[in-house]
Amino acid sequence: MTALASQSATTDGPKVGHWDAALAREIIAAHAGMEGAALPILHALQEEFGYVPKQSEAMIADALNLSRAEVHGIISFYHDFRRAAPGRHVLQVCRAEACQAVGAATMADRLLERLGVSWGGTTGDGSLTVEPTFCLGLCACGPAALLDGEPLARLDDAKLLEATEEARRT
Ligand code: FES
Repeated sequence: MTALASQSATTDGPKVGHWDAALAREIIAAHAGMEGAALPILHALQEEFGYVPKQSEAMIADALNLSRAEVHGIISFYHDFRRAAPGRHVLQVCRAEACQAVGAATMADRLLERLGVSWGGTTGDGSLTVEPTFCLGLCACGPAALLDGEPLARLDDAKLLEATEEARRT
């Protein structure tokens, strides 16, 4: 089955770990010597914890000889980094131009309204976090999204609802 054909399949949500200072320190140290280490560190922390824990900011600042404000600025600048633990599943809806042109914005607005969340928010039952993303390389088959990293293409309200409801049951 191709990735696009698997859009109704149940997917695994993001890994979410409890804060562990020793583990965070280890992750930071493992990447600190790299060129432009801040982004690899932030990605690695998010991979481990599901988000970038606030407690890690001072550690990163110390390791990279940056101010906490600089670290905070990097995290805020990039849409990729979460500031809080996500729900069991993460839906990332493309908000770039080609998808907007085929109705992605209104489709996303209706989904957010139905779920009672705003961008970056998590449903009250903790089952789904909805995030914006900007071009998934699926411009010819928009509206496009990723559900737990699996591409969803040629979406409409019904397909998006079906995919998200199926994921939320798990
Ligand atoms: S604009 Fe949505 S995938 Fe490229």
